[in-house]
Amino acid sequence: MKLSIIILAAGLGKRMNSDLPKVLHCLADKPLLQHVIDTALTLEPETIQVVYGHGGEQVRNTLADLSVQWVEQKQQLGTGHAVAQAIPNIANDNMVLVLYGDVPLINSTTLQTLYSQKNGLNILTAKLDNPTGYGRIVRNDKNQVTSIVEEKDANDKIKSIQEINTGILATQANNLRNWLTKLDNNNSQGEYYLTDIVAMAVVDEQPIHTNTVNDNQEIMGVNNRLQLVELERYYQLQQANNLMLAGVTIRDPNRLDIRGKIQVGYDINIDINVILAGKVSLGNRVRIGSNTIIRNAEIADDVEILSNCVIEDVVIGAGCKIGPFARLRPETKLAEQVHIGNFVEIKKSKIANGSKINHLSYIGDSEIGKNVNVGAGTITCNYDGAKKHKTIIKDEVFIGSDTQLIAPITVETGATIGAGSTITKDVVADSLTLSRTEQKSIIGWQRPKKK
Ligand code: UD1
Ligand code: CA
Repeated sequence: MKLSIIILAAGLGKRMNSDLPKVLHCLADKPLLQHVIDTALTLEPETIQVVYGHGGEQVRNTLADLSVQWVEQKQQLGTGHAVAQAIPNIANDNMVLVLYGDVPLINSTTLQTLYSQKNGLNILTAKLDNPTGYGRIVRNDKNQVTSIVEEKDANDKIKSIQEINTGILATQANNLRNWLTKLDNNNSQGEYYLTDIVAMAVVDEQPIHTNTVNDNQEIMGVNNRLQLVELERYYQLQQANNLMLAGVTIRDPNRLDIRGKIQVGYDINIDINVILAGKVSLGNRVRIGSNTIIRNAEIADDVEILSNCVIEDVVIGAGCKIGPFARLRPETKLAEQVHIGNFVEIKKSKIANGSKINHLSYIGDSEIGKNVNVGAGTITCNYDGAKKHKTIIKDEVFIGSDTQLIAPITVETGATIGAGSTITKDVVADSLTLSRTEQKSIIGWQRPKKK
């Protein structure tokens, strides 16, 4: 049976107190709605329709790259009304799965189990210690579901029921289409409740199946920022746990944030306060020191990153040693066994095997060969105020401390540059090049004195 997914995302989200539509608030750097869409996509449905309303254009524009259909609900007249906007686009014998755009952590296996029961109405439920606010699942003495009653329409007996409606359900399109036409808004909120289809299924003698989630965080919605951070912490801990089970040592799982996709080898060690964002792959035995941020990086085996580094859009080869306090900026590519030390900034540069830049340097728009030693305080002067220029340093070069290389410039193989030089012209191979005035002493010179 083909699957069609409807994601409800038209609600106001007033309690966020925000100019941003609720479903665009991020969990682990990804909008809530995108979490739901990504999970929906893993189910390979025929269609995904997102019902949008409040802040709709902004939501559509932000998520324009995702392959979903957008359906507008001009007025938010209830969950039943929202689903009714999307149902005309679905073929009669498809299975329809209804999801919520503000319930980001719903799990694809849970959903598969739910819609794989082919007939009748399949409702995802949960058992909550505090069910306040949710629709309650009402059952008869044979334990069959007879209706869902909203909190605002419930008497005390119904309010004491702990089994709740998560809002997520699956049923065949022809049934749903038929039931939706019969909805009314005769209830305390004057809304078209999707939940009223339950009583209709009973009348139609359609079987009603319930599946109860194991982990209640899966079905938690976000209505305010407290709930958002609660889910964020839960999600982070879950990711850390998965990494530990995969062979990563994490010094404190509460002080690691993963905001993207991460691939790991064995025996990695991650110290506290590390953020891994975007797409990050870590080879075997990689060590990451405390307070380090890594975004979009390919890091090979045996790399050691010491504390307080910021690394973005970078490829780091095996056995490199980085930091502490190093900044690797986009389009930097380090080959193997490269050492980048403290207070070194590298931007858009390639550095070949075994080269070392250990202290206080800026290297930008450069190509550095093998076994080069760049002395402390070396600067590539890559910018003339209008354009960026390239610095090329070939194999086995030794650059003395406090050197400025005025780009465009090439330093040939084996050259040595004396400390404190400002190099403006290409440097020939195997030479010593320096640009200093000769040292002299003025004998008997007196410092000025205060009167
Ligand atoms: C709904 C359920 C309730 C369930 C609860 C779970 C109904 C009548 N009630 O209640 O049984 O326990 O969810 O959280 O279905 N939305 C629209 N358009 C609308 C109204 C809502 O797109 O006109 C979307 C919202 O953006 C949200 C979802 O539907 O993502 C749920 O809406 P909400 O108002 O939160 O429903 P509840 O009253 O909490
Ligand atoms: Ca809600």
